[in-house]
Amino acid sequence: MPEKVLVTREMPEAGLRPLEEFDVTTLSEGPPERDELLKAARGVAGVLCTLTEQMDAEFMDVAGDSLKVVANMAVGYDNVDLEAAKERGVVITNTPEVLNETTADTAFMLMLVAARRLGEGERIVRAGEWEAWGPKMLLGPDVWGKKLGIIGFGGIGQAVARRARGFGMEVLYSGRSRREEAEKEFEARYLELDELLETCDFISLHTPLTEETTHLIGEAELGKMKKEAVLVNTARGSVVDEAALADALEGGRIFAAGLDVYEEEPRVHTKLLELENVVLAPHIGSASFETRDKMAVTAGEDLRAVLRGEQPQNPVNA
Ligand code: DGY
Repeated sequence: MPEKVLVTREMPEAGLRPLEEFDVTTLSEGPPERDELLKAARGVAGVLCTLTEQMDAEFMDVAGDSLKVVANMAVGYDNVDLEAAKERGVVITNTPEVLNETTADTAFMLMLVAARRLGEGERIVRAGEWEAWGPKMLLGPDVWGKKLGIIGFGGIGQAVARRARGFGMEVLYSGRSRREEAEKEFEARYLELDELLETCDFISLHTPLTEETTHLIGEAELGKMKKEAVLVNTARGSVVDEAALADALEGGRIFAAGLDVYEEEPRVHTKLLELENVVLAPHIGSASFETRDKMAVTAGEDLRAVLRGEQPQNPVNA
């Protein structure tokens, strides 16, 4: 009898190919209701899930002893209770690397759009309110040649640095560890967080969400940033204190922000929705045809590897 595998959302076709040898149940396109998810968990050996599903102790207990692997189709795995997985001997995998370049494109896009006020401009054009070219219309700071501060200088942060060098930007970074090779490659300079915030014109966040990074950027940190600075978040919403950010944007304490992620997705802080100087994307950092295929395949192959008794490529709780 083939083992039972649960796929929690409709996936790019490519991701299902590695699962052909299993008895696969795929849930709906949208995030499943918790009840539906738990009902479908019973007796499964493997789960291919996304960041919208909480893979917690309750889920693992409902799945029972048959559960061997949860393959999370994301690089971030803050939706997975690693401790619960460890206690139950469940292997967790993620999809690093394959989304670095696409997510870096998104971060750079948000940087450009927020600085050069494209969102506002588009709203004016669509509303039929554009009257004429204006020498002072929709001015914003240049991106090229400025100082970019990257918080979290792993694969995605470095892919952002590569783009920044093409824009003649100076790259500075902060994070848990020094990255000496990357420092050479991007002529990047390490700074402590406070100094980075005070120095840079653009700040881009690329750190995982952990206890340490929750609200890493709050009122005090926003207060250290330049008045003309732009903050970009493509990491996880809770790395930023959204209420504090909304206040800083409203009070003109920083110039603008570009956000792809939020503290309580899909809910966005109501004040942010009213502000002109923030660009709001619906968590599409890795949403290219090519990258979503690669993420689904990576997750599918790792799930299959564990069920075949082989070593997965991307275990996060080895
Ligand atoms: C991730 O992979 O963690 C992203 O947020 C979804 O692409």
